[in-house]
Amino acid sequence: MQHYIPVEKISNDLSNSLISGLVNKEHDHLMVFYDFDFLETKIDELKKAFPENTIHTSAIKANPLVRVLENVRDFGLGVEVASEGELFLAHKTGFKATKIVFDSPAKTQAEIDNALQNGYFINADSFSELERIHQYLKKNHTESRIGVRINPQVGTGSIESTSVAGAYSKFGIPINIFRQEIIHLFKKYNCLCGLHIHIGSQGCEMKMLLDGFENILRLVVDINNETDANKIQFIDIGGGLPISYHHQKEPPDILEYGKNIQQLLKKYHLENIQLITEFGRYLHANSGYIISKVEYVKHYKDSNTLMIHGGADILLRECLNPDNWYHEISLLDSTGKIKNHSEKLHYHIAGPLCFAGDIVARNILLPKAAPGDYIVIHDSGGYTFGMWSRYVSRLFPKIIGIKNNNYQIIRKKETPEDIYKFWSDI
Ligand code: LLP
Repeated sequence: MQHYIPVEKISNDLSNSLISGLVNKEHDHLMVFYDFDFLETKIDELKKAFPENTIHTSAIKANPLVRVLENVRDFGLGVEVASEGELFLAHKTGFKATKIVFDSPAKTQAEIDNALQNGYFINADSFSELERIHQYLKKNHTESRIGVRINPQVGTGSIESTSVAGAYSKFGIPINIFRQEIIHLFKKYNCLCGLHIHIGSQGCEMKMLLDGFENILRLVVDINNETDANKIQFIDIGGGLPISYHHQKEPPDILEYGKNIQQLLKKYHLENIQLITEFGRYLHANSGYIISKVEYVKHYKDSNTLMIHGGADILLRECLNPDNWYHEISLLDSTGKIKNHSEKLHYHIAGPLCFAGDIVARNILLPKAAPGDYIVIHDSGGYTFGMWSRYVSRLFPKIIGIKNNNYQIIRKKETPEDIYKFWSDI
């Protein structure tokens, strides 16, 4: 299957939305489109790649929209949660307790109690967190299945800030330093029956993910040998499979990843272990795209700049760490048609925020642009509006969902009143 939504489809989506009035030319400056049909194909692939009993979850942080979570739920997935807010989103969206996996490196006692009372999976991030869980279980019963997060220490990928399995990481218990202590945990805490890893998000090659998984399997063998043969019941492999933001470059194949994981399980005679996955980017990034109106075109002597309505507020990493992040960018005209001007120019694409680094892309070649055209930032359905920043109090954009060729607003645009409420709520 094609790994991205082609610009022809995007042009059609925008034209239809302009004609129907779902996108208002005057008032909608920044929008996000999210394609549920595309998401469904990703989920189908994911399910094909892993054993049938695998619990697949979607990392809420990648895309917390409630309508997206509802679809994720209806497609049979669960959710990975990492905060009080995400716990509530998961609960209120109606996910079954056995499909909610609670991670995060700073769980409060109240959050731990909540997860244990409700029977969610919970992965302790540290020795101290396990002790808190243990204290709760001295007095209470739980249906929760409890794991511990291990840092398999396989190194960092190409993006340091999203790599979490280096020699040092703020996440998990480092395997090389504490191997014996980790094994001991499974003797000490009867409740403990799982292991969790997450190696990084984007920038970590499939080989690195598999090396981390194999490190964990060796640990499972040691734990099972020293406790009982079936001590480890589940392994949560986290997320992290990179996607391709380049349309000419094929992404890693999820089917191959799943096949390799299963071969490793076989190698260590651990096929009976239940797997959990927590993909975010794989599910959502290619399933959505951002569109902004071009407000102004600035021609200086040696540069051209398109002023648009999304910058570091919606594309945080892309603006602050441009060397590591890339998106394909297209230009549509004011009716949504693909712009085909014979003259092409190099443009900087600048956001609306008040700092010099608010640049989405530099020196990219596009057909000659005019105010009122639309810029498409491709493959931006994950880790974009989910990392929304309130800086300069811009209005959170309208989000349009596409399902079976029907278009629907799935999150309305914020109003200035919403902003006032945000900054004044007591
Ligand atoms: N599980 C855990 C425990 C995680 O921390 C994450 C992502 C995932 C799963 C999902 O990983 P994915 O499949 O999406 O790669 N653009 C963001 C990315 C941070 C990712 C954090 N964790 C950033 O730059 O902060």
